Amino acid sequence: MLHPALLAPSLLAGDHAHLAASAQAAAAAGAPWLHIDIMDGHFVPNLTFGPEVPAALRRAGVKTFFDVHLMLAEPQKYIEPFAKAGANNISIHIEPAYDHVAALAHIRNLGCQCGLVVNPGTPAAAIEHLLDKVDLVLVMTVQPGFGGQAFRADMLPKLKQLSAWRQQRGLLFRLEVDGGVDLANAKDCRAAGADTFVAGTSFFKTPDLAAYVQQIAAMR
Ligand code: DX5
Ligand code: ZN
Repeated sequence: MLHPALLAPSLLAGDHAHLAASAQAAAAAGAPWLHIDIMDGHFVPNLTFGPEVPAALRRAGVKTFFDVHLMLAEPQKYIEPFAKAGANNISIHIEPAYDHVAALAHIRNLGCQCGLVVNPGTPAAAIEHLLDKVDLVLVMTVQPGFGGQAFRADMLPKLKQLSAWRQQRGLLFRLEVDGGVDLANAKDCRAAGADTFVAGTSFFKTPDLAAYVQQIAAMR
């Protein structure tokens, strides 16, 4: 497998009255990344955080890799604020109409890694021409907008297709899954080529956070 498996706990499932405590708990458990979901009430029917949240987490001393997932109708307008707020990776969806190539280049020019995201209804072919321009591909395994939804196993063939293209073309992007991920279906995603695992509900409700992190990292 190209990349070792890693866990990105999703802050959405943390304690919104104590976000820094949730972020620190994930970091203390050994999670190398923190996934931060940004929703605008337009692209998805929910609202979450503005750039002040990651900025405040940085000020509070959170040092993990910030994996920022923009679920926005106009993500190109918010790249710079999130880069300045401490993002390490910024992922943008393929579905809205904007200049995707320019937005990806903008993210990299600001010193961040860049990712492209596909919704469950969007085929892998929609991003095939952009795979050489990204550091990460995120395959949504739920319709985005809310945590706590059921994992869609019918997304596994999409992972396999993207993994095959990555190998055939000698590309290095990470392959991430997000939505309903738990320790059981993470194994299926790993077998299909995924290396980066977002987990919200299943992670924060588990009694032993460090064991969860280790079990993801131990997947071969
Ligand atoms: C869904 C978000 C996810 C969410 C995952 O729209 O993109 O990152 O936090 O949460 P769980 O793991 O609960 O499905
Ligand atoms: Zn997400």
